[in-house]
Amino acid sequence: MNDNLIKSPDRVKDHGEVFTPKRIVNLMLDQPEIQAKINDLTATFFEPSAGEGAFLVELLKRKLKVARDKSTSASTFNTKSLLALSTLYGIELLEDNVEMLVMNMITTFNLEYSHIITTDFRAKVNRHVLDSAKVIIQANMVQGNTLEKVSADGSPIIFSEWKPEAGNNVQRTEYTFEAIIDQSGPTGTVQGATEEMDLFADTGYFDDSKKEESKMKQYALCSWASIYKQKIA
Ligand SMILES: C[S@@+](CC[C@H](N)C(=O)[O-])C[C@H]1O[C@@H](n2cnc3c(N)ncnc32)[C@H](O)[C@@H]1O
Repeated sequence: MNDNLIKSPDRVKDHGEVFTPKRIVNLMLDQPEIQAKINDLTATFFEPSAGEGAFLVELLKRKLKVARDKSTSASTFNTKSLLALSTLYGIELLEDNVEMLVMNMITTFNLEYSHIITTDFRAKVNRHVLDSAKVIIQANMVQGNTLEKVSADGSPIIFSEWKPEAGNNVQRTEYTFEAIIDQSGPTGTVQGATEEMDLFADTGYFDDSKKEESKMKQYALCSWASIYKQKIA
């Protein structure tokens, strides 16, 4: 993570780029309402101006600890660590920041997951988990313009929903960012730009018929650790 709060005065002027210090990130994430969401492994977080991941990286560390505490075995932790990761979403405008964001998320997942699986569960690091984590991070961290809802090449921003299914499986479905925020209602509003947002929560506003219409692509049902094999249904 960048220890300097700004990279250049021009970037502050042009893009409002000022990074949040770790102390402030921790203060904000310690708020009881945020803490309750962190403790809920399926609650999603969305950072509309992610920078290099000041909030998302800390959320990942905290969610992985929750995943550990809710796991009774190494194989449960393998699944729950990926579920925890899959709930974190971010958009960032600038290419160099997104590169750092993706790298910071991958490094954090690899270090924290490996530490927990070897120390707390006395098990081996599972390469399939690390490969699947990389795919989730690359899908959930997008370079684009949040206000215009377009990615760097001008195409609509697309996010994946990672829905846990029975038997350690996951159903991945893609939706445009526009469809998600236009149909998700009060608990899913991006306006206000808070760092917490239930992107895919079952709010009742994003009902099944609308969801069906705005579906972009559905992947075959697979186990969490097989996400990296990515087959389209
Ligand atoms: C104030 S910084 C905050 C970065 C990070 N959230 C943090 O707390 O360290 C704002 C970030 O938003 C990005 N940004 C500016 N306009 C944006 C837009 N329209 N869409 C997405 N990101 C944007 C900037 O490049 C910058 O990295």
